[in-house]
Amino acid sequence: MRIAMIGTGYVGLVSGACFSEFGVDVTCVDKDEAKIAGLRQNRMPIFEPGLEALVADNVKAGRLSFTTDLTAAVAQADAVFIAVGTPSRRGDGYADLSYVYEAAQEIARALDGYTVVVTKSTVPVGTGREVSRIIRETCPDAAFDVVSNPEFLREGSAINDFMRPDRVVIGAETEAARAIMKQLYRVLFLIETPIVFTSLETSELIKYAANTFLATKITFINEIADLCEAVGADVHDVARGIGLDGRIGKKFLHPGPGYGGSCFPKDTLALVRTARDKGAPLKIVETVVAINDERKRRMAEKVITACHGSVRGKTIAVLGLTFKPNTDDMRDSPSLEIIPALQSAGAIIRAYDPEGMEEARHLLPDVVFCGNAYETLVGADAMALLTEWNEFRALDLVRVKSLLKAPVIVDLRNVYNPEEMALKGFFYSSIGRPSLPGSQSGNCSP
Ligand code: UDX
Repeated sequence: MRIAMIGTGYVGLVSGACFSEFGVDVTCVDKDEAKIAGLRQNRMPIFEPGLEALVADNVKAGRLSFTTDLTAAVAQADAVFIAVGTPSRRGDGYADLSYVYEAAQEIARALDGYTVVVTKSTVPVGTGREVSRIIRETCPDAAFDVVSNPEFLREGSAINDFMRPDRVVIGAETEAARAIMKQLYRVLFLIETPIVFTSLETSELIKYAANTFLATKITFINEIADLCEAVGADVHDVARGIGLDGRIGKKFLHPGPGYGGSCFPKDTLALVRTARDKGAPLKIVETVVAINDERKRRMAEKVITACHGSVRGKTIAVLGLTFKPNTDDMRDSPSLEIIPALQSAGAIIRAYDPEGMEEARHLLPDVVFCGNAYETLVGADAMALLTEWNEFRALDLVRVKSLLKAPVIVDLRNVYNPEEMALKGFFYSSIGRPSLPGSQSGNCSP
């Protein structure tokens, strides 16, 4: 089997590398010459654990290659995957499909013999049909089928998610297309991964329904966390207490500063728009979007409250900038709302992130970027933990206390234990946990 993967962004590169690991011959195509040149020298454009080694191994084995020549790659392929970006269209929240449709036209011109054209990018319901129409219009004689095969990869664990998925969803409407898709996922068939075959539209909607459901689950536990703070309950016990109910499930019940990343914010918004257009509004998801947006802003107030109601002229040490650990992705990260809000309130920001600082420098002006966690804390009036990187989970708290001007910690990921922090003499504020005497509203130096 031979495939072409159009787009070497997150989805395309991980999927391409993983398919080659399954034994498929993969050519990854991108217009960006510098990116392709880098990949040929095994320079990854993104940070994803395990990706560099996986790419190197498969390039060496001759199963994975990189090119800017779409025509040659498509002509030789049994299946062509469209894995280009579908960013939120500026201003209106609709997914911008111009890259997908452009790719469809180019693919159409290059098709040679029966080929399956697969949409891997997250695309709104109806896009697969439109891709099919574009290909037919561009090249009326082409022999092809369009298939929807959404990815469910999480940044930071994308390779494992691809190799051991909970399920694979394939929207394919002909036997020929299903046969090729089965062959591509043969390795997963062998380990009895559930494969859900559906129509094009159903498959496209499954992807959005999954992401919006997870975003809703996170938002639900975030609101329950706020209620826990109001009534003196512990959100982690609530999450465990409800999560052990098999109908609810334990995952995605960790409270935090609001979901971010390249998918949830964009996909929730796009589904809201589609649903309104189709006259079937998703009021729950609309509310989730609004709550999550507001939550990110409210997190700055939590820091301000911990600093006795004002951060004017005070220095806040921010640990973690990416939307979650094990990625360098800053897209829709809560830090992009929280830091500017603190700056508007007069705070001076020192910050550190293990992988996200290169990107953050372009997005967050007037921040003092530091070389490591401890350097960030020097002379700060409070520490705010925004992303739960492992290296922030086990900080030397004696050292932390000695470096901070005031022993105030605002932990928006609940990494530390409130009792332990109180014992160590910190004014510690976290999310959805009962306040301990003296530890809720902190004591930023005046
Ligand atoms: C998500 C989906 O999980 C994945 O299936 C899809 O393909 C792409 O979108 P990703 O964006 O990489 O993956 O990250 P994920 O681990 O799902 O986290 C998304 C956001 O939710 C992060 O901001 C994270 O901090 C937050 N989150 C997640 C919580 O606040 N609490 C949780 O319990 C889980």
